[in-house]
Amino acid sequence: MKGKILVTGGTGYIGSHTTVELIETGYEVEILDNLYNSKEEVLDRIKELTGVRPKFYNVDLRDAEALEKVFAENKYDAVIHFAGLKAVGESCEQPLRYYENNIGGTINLLECMQEYGCKKIIFSSSATVYGEQDTPKCVETMTTGQSISNPYGETKFMIEQILKDTAKADPELSVTILRYFNPIGAHKSGLLGEDPNDKPNNLMPIIMKVATGEIPELSVYGDDYPTPDGTCIRDYIHVVDLAKGHLAALDHMTQGVQIYNLGTGEGHSVFEMVEAFDKASGKKLPCQIVGRRAGDLAELYADPSLAYEKLGWETKLTVEDAMNDTLNFLKHEGLTLRED
Ligand code: NAD
Ligand code: WQD
Repeated sequence: MKGKILVTGGTGYIGSHTTVELIETGYEVEILDNLYNSKEEVLDRIKELTGVRPKFYNVDLRDAEALEKVFAENKYDAVIHFAGLKAVGESCEQPLRYYENNIGGTINLLECMQEYGCKKIIFSSSATVYGEQDTPKCVETMTTGQSISNPYGETKFMIEQILKDTAKADPELSVTILRYFNPIGAHKSGLLGEDPNDKPNNLMPIIMKVATGEIPELSVYGDDYPTPDGTCIRDYIHVVDLAKGHLAALDHMTQGVQIYNLGTGEGHSVFEMVEAFDKASGKKLPCQIVGRRAGDLAELYADPSLAYEKLGWETKLTVEDAMNDTLNFLKHEGLTLRED
């Protein structure tokens, strides 16, 4: 056994894929989630894939007493901290809820880790901390936090700062901050994928709902950006590549704070994503061009070279793989594509 890991948010989209990779690599995994944006059934899917149903704690990170009980019962070698709210638009309407959940939850977690001697944490940060820069290619050494357009992004920036300060105060602590770009796709088995409980906000889950007819058409937020086809460019990373990035990070943890971008290094426009989905599905996704969405940047992608140099990690899967895996996930969910 390689070690015992607590995965917060482990029934969620990225957490569930990472759990599968961890178990397959020989880690013992326990999951803590309040099921706000995920379903307990994911645990059965993980069992189907790995033969192991991870021990599950239906606990809210804000419930300090319940969280402490979990730590009192276990000795974790590391925590991978995915749990949090992530809807950008909602965070603008309910900022206090986002600060309370994401920051409050993280502080409780760090307090328990301190009390029970757990010295390693990997945190799910986001490309959003870069805000608007002079160049679209984000490097870890860039100044962050300067033009973040929403409270969700601020919570990521603030948690990064909290982790840095906590590591300064405890030299034995190893913190790895992973800045994800745009995760897409699903497990190749079709058993795991993105299945939010709430109305989706991100491009791929919306494309999925348009494809199945639950949403009538995709609103493309602007085709007048200074990009080759006028739509915004992002760095879409397959969720399984992203999950594997956590294993590489776990293998290379050292005391202090390490920060890595997890992205492909390549940008794709919204139109290119729609085209890739159309090609994979053999159907035409209904789209309508609407006005720009507030806060969107024209172009943003990762410089992933540090993760390659230090962790030996790089992406292997393509946008085409992600589209095929997404369609396979929809099929396994029993969903059929709309008629043209
Ligand atoms: P997700 O919503 O699928 O998973 C997050 C999980 O955390 C959910 O299962 C939810 O129920 C749980 N959770 C939320 N608040 C909790 C609390 N207080 N206590 C216990 N559990 C709680 O989201 P995801 O896409 O898997 O994202 C995982 C992490 O990665 C999040 O921190 C997110 O901000 C970050 N991230 C996501 C993306 C993305 O586009 N998906 C990009 C960058 C960063
Ligand atoms: C991608 C592109 C939209 C929906 C957000 C967060 C970031 C990280 C990833 C969580 C943009 C366009 C979208 C639609 C569209 N999340 N779009 N029509 O905005 O790059 O990043 O998710 O941690 O922090 O900010 O991702 O998927 O919302 O949008 O045209 O209905 O798709 O304008 O260009 P984004 P997204």
